[in-house]
Amino acid sequence: MQVLDGKALATTIKGEMREEVDQIRLSGGNIPHLAAVLIGDNPASESYVRSKVRSCEEVGFHSTLIRRGTEITQSEVLEIVEQLNNDPDIDGFIVQLPLPKHIDEDAVNLAIDPRKDVDGFTPVNVGRMTLGLPSFLPATPNGILTMLDRYGIETSGKEVVVLGRSNIVGTPMTILLSRKGSPGNATVTMCHSRTQDLKFHTRRADILVAAIGIPEMVTADMVKDGVVIVDVGINRVEDDSRKRGYRLCGDVDYKSLESKASAMTPVPGGVGPMTVVSLLMNTLKASKRK
Ligand code: GUN
Repeated sequence: MQVLDGKALATTIKGEMREEVDQIRLSGGNIPHLAAVLIGDNPASESYVRSKVRSCEEVGFHSTLIRRGTEITQSEVLEIVEQLNNDPDIDGFIVQLPLPKHIDEDAVNLAIDPRKDVDGFTPVNVGRMTLGLPSFLPATPNGILTMLDRYGIETSGKEVVVLGRSNIVGTPMTILLSRKGSPGNATVTMCHSRTQDLKFHTRRADILVAAIGIPEMVTADMVKDGVVIVDVGINRVEDDSRKRGYRLCGDVDYKSLESKASAMTPVPGGVGPMTVVSLLMNTLKASKRK
């Protein structure tokens, strides 16, 4: 089985980006500047945002982290978004999800200027993506496309099964893989919590994308020999034998799939680092708008 090493690929792509940023600096151009808004104390969000900020440094971008406590009000969040929309020094920004329960995520998303929406979550970018127009593509699905492309995994005419229908992963992944082009041109089935006979669908998959957030739910009996598995899940499972008290695992039972899949992303070190790289690519693109 081939390990789809997102960590190594992300390092390669970040190296390429670093060279491009060096060129921009030498020619006196605009150095990309990403801002990240982190609200509350969700440990997973903290870890993701830390990784996004660290990656900005690695490629020579400027970054700004805006941190606020859970007690923040809706109007204060909207004020931060407005300031970032209007700050000429910021090329793009993200508001890390999930937000605390009392904050309306849709209202925050709608307030983001689509030209700075490097997450690709606003209606304008989702609509443009759906129509095949130039847009900021959502980071996780785009990271997966980049990975499939760089590893030379053909999607055209393949049966792809996407598990999960979230706005962030499942839905855009389904749209992007079924569109005309490369990677794309796949026959895509989207499954979710109400799907009857999940196994019927997953067993037909040439490529299976798991984005459901249930630890190790996909097992060997659910797939056919030679399947390519993209595991989007990053789950924390209690494990007292670990120093930090938990271990990270995907939505796929990696061990049982190893002898059946032809290629698979590990967790961690698979899709996660590619997501960050996509965000950086969108930020670079946003900075060129000036
Ligand atoms: N939470 C989980 N994934 C993401 C992401 O890609 N962007 C943001 N803003 N929040 C997330």
